[in-house]
Amino acid sequence: MSPKPLTGEIQVPGDKSIGHRACIFGALGDGESRITGLSRGADVASTVAVLRGLGVEIDLQDEGDEARRAVIQGVGLQGLRAQGAAPLDCGNSGTTIRLMMGALAGQRELGEITLVGDASLSRRPMARVSRPLSALGAQIQLPGGDHPPVVIRGAALEAPSEAVDTGGASAQVKSALLLAGIQGEGPLTVTERGPSRDHTERMLAARGVPVKIGPNRATVQPVEALPAVDQIVPGDPSSAAFWLGAAALIPGSDLTLTGVSLNPTRTGVLDILKSMGADLDITPTGDAGGEPVGHIRLRHRPLKGADIHGDVIVRAIDELPLVAALAALAEGETRITGAEELRVKESDRVAAMTELLTALGGRVQALSDGWHIEGVDHLTGGAVRAHHDHRIAMVAAILDTVTVGPVVIDTPAVAGVSYPGFLQRLHRMTTR
Ligand code: S3P
Repeated sequence: MSPKPLTGEIQVPGDKSIGHRACIFGALGDGESRITGLSRGADVASTVAVLRGLGVEIDLQDEGDEARRAVIQGVGLQGLRAQGAAPLDCGNSGTTIRLMMGALAGQRELGEITLVGDASLSRRPMARVSRPLSALGAQIQLPGGDHPPVVIRGAALEAPSEAVDTGGASAQVKSALLLAGIQGEGPLTVTERGPSRDHTERMLAARGVPVKIGPNRATVQPVEALPAVDQIVPGDPSSAAFWLGAAALIPGSDLTLTGVSLNPTRTGVLDILKSMGADLDITPTGDAGGEPVGHIRLRHRPLKGADIHGDVIVRAIDELPLVAALAALAEGETRITGAEELRVKESDRVAAMTELLTALGGRVQALSDGWHIEGVDHLTGGAVRAHHDHRIAMVAAILDTVTVGPVVIDTPAVAGVSYPGFLQRLHRMTTR
């Protein structure tokens, strides 16, 4: 049976990237920080657990079904301490482990901490963070090679004489360096190869830290202390994208997502959807927690293929599996290139999406750095593997609304890493 069109308004959960950072800044602040609209996903919960494991008191309360409110008793910029020898578990969360590497590197009274993760995180590259941090004098070891466990000894950091380059366009590496930089001895300039998300820079500025932003570079000054700041977390554009994708696939849909971050370093997926012919209306409504926010309305119309490359790739990096799925059902061909980073996300997302779309009858060729996709007019159902990757599970759930026959996902619960309840809500809203 054809799915019910998606109509009305949806408020998506708080942004995951901002949520991690708000917790870390709250922990390093002087006094009490209150965060509202925090994601209920497992990833942000990993950051909370790691901070608690470093002696930070954090009270979490549910705020309705979709969000949490956190009250954090900051321990001060130099206040994180190993509480024992047990490793701290970052779960599935690359942002937790990489940002904490930066936050912990300059904690002079830390002692020694080991950060670990689940099977997926335990395969992901970490030298990209430890190597540039070592230019500041960080003492970080990767005993098993280029992946967790990560062993950190708190150290007095120095000011490097030259800019430190992230070696790519990674907000996680950049943020780790900036978090270390504010604990250093002098100004630190971080350079990168593309416009990665800038939430850390915005939050530093909101806390009065001198931060100078240029094209693909940021310079921070060390500070003595960070103030406690209350933060509202706006809606997550990466979560919103799944609803937009579903509405783009289901005829008759007319859906509005409210209160979503419209930070230009995150809106690449909106630009891509427009280039594929989507009927999108974006209405800025103001500012929340230093981020531009607004409503996004999508009215269904069939999509066409597009050539997707360049700076938009980093601005849409987490949404590219979804874009690949939309392209599989769009008219004509799509090429997505320059996205080799997808190979080292929660799963190898190039391989995972190629396998998934092929299993459903899609015409997809994996490239080293993306895909070449020929649109087909329908996909079939079938059994698919999410590879323990939340975004792959959510893409599969969206496709299930329009495939001829059901899509059976091996581990649907992994969607809870970023968006608990998404699969159930999508099913409720689209089932006649
Ligand atoms: C994130 C940065 C991106 C993104 C990840 C979240 C962040 O990773 O893919 O989901 O919050 O800084 P990279 O910095 O590795 O590209």
